[in-house]
Amino acid sequence: MFNFFRSVKTQDALSVKPKHIAIIMDGNGRWAKKRLMPRMSGHRKGLESVKTVITQCQKLNIPFLTLFAFSTENWLRPSQEVKFLMSLFQDSIKKESSALIKNNIRFKLIGDRKPFPKKLNDKINSLEKFTEENTGLTLSIAINYGGRWDIVNAVNEYRKQNHFKKTFTQKNLIQNLSLNFAPDPDLLIRTGGEKRISNFLIWQFSYTELYFTEKLWPDFNEKAFMAALFEFQKRERRYGKTSEQL
Ligand code: FPP
Repeated sequence: MFNFFRSVKTQDALSVKPKHIAIIMDGNGRWAKKRLMPRMSGHRKGLESVKTVITQCQKLNIPFLTLFAFSTENWLRPSQEVKFLMSLFQDSIKKESSALIKNNIRFKLIGDRKPFPKKLNDKINSLEKFTEENTGLTLSIAINYGGRWDIVNAVNEYRKQNHFKKTFTQKNLIQNLSLNFAPDPDLLIRTGGEKRISNFLIWQFSYTELYFTEKLWPDFNEKAFMAALFEFQKRERRYGKTSEQL
């Protein structure tokens, strides 16, 4: 009976929705290995799950989605895989640009762009500029991103503004972080079974609800996404207060 009720629940049944979802997309390699396929096939298949979650966020009017695609530590992977991932990002940006524009999506890239080839940086900059005024989903892709890098980078950005004598505040830091255009994530989803944050948005996750699933990223479909949202709406977010105060 309960299962039946759940299966007929529509997206309208979500009474509390996150405004900002962050995702650590893990398990592409294992997905491929299970099928005796090269790791790259897992990443390629993972791209389909990226499209699924973007579509779901649009359907549900969730305003911010931030995806961890490549960490500052991922450079340590075999060079062939790093090369493949970089070209997958570049191709996806090229191929999907018109779909992003058509769907009123605001595109952002967060992370250290300095090591990217000029061609890739030009593409990123022009897509960001082109979609700047879009009012639908804000899609942020984290590439060469690390939470520790972001914090140190924010302090350096602040120092460039020559405020040496002023006391440094949380607001000063927040204004210079790479996600300074978005509220803190309400929900972090991590696929692939690991239960850690892996140097993702370490500052912004202070009050984020954490959701871990064994599902591998290429298997993360609409049903799995909705399961995360139903779990989220059960959480009581107290921000240090008592239940009675809410
Ligand atoms: C982690 O799985 C996944 C990555 C490091 C790459 C994520 C990239 C995509 C999903 C493809 C495209 C994305 C965009 C935004 C264009 P893993 O390789 O660590 O898997 P494993 O833990 O099973 O080895």
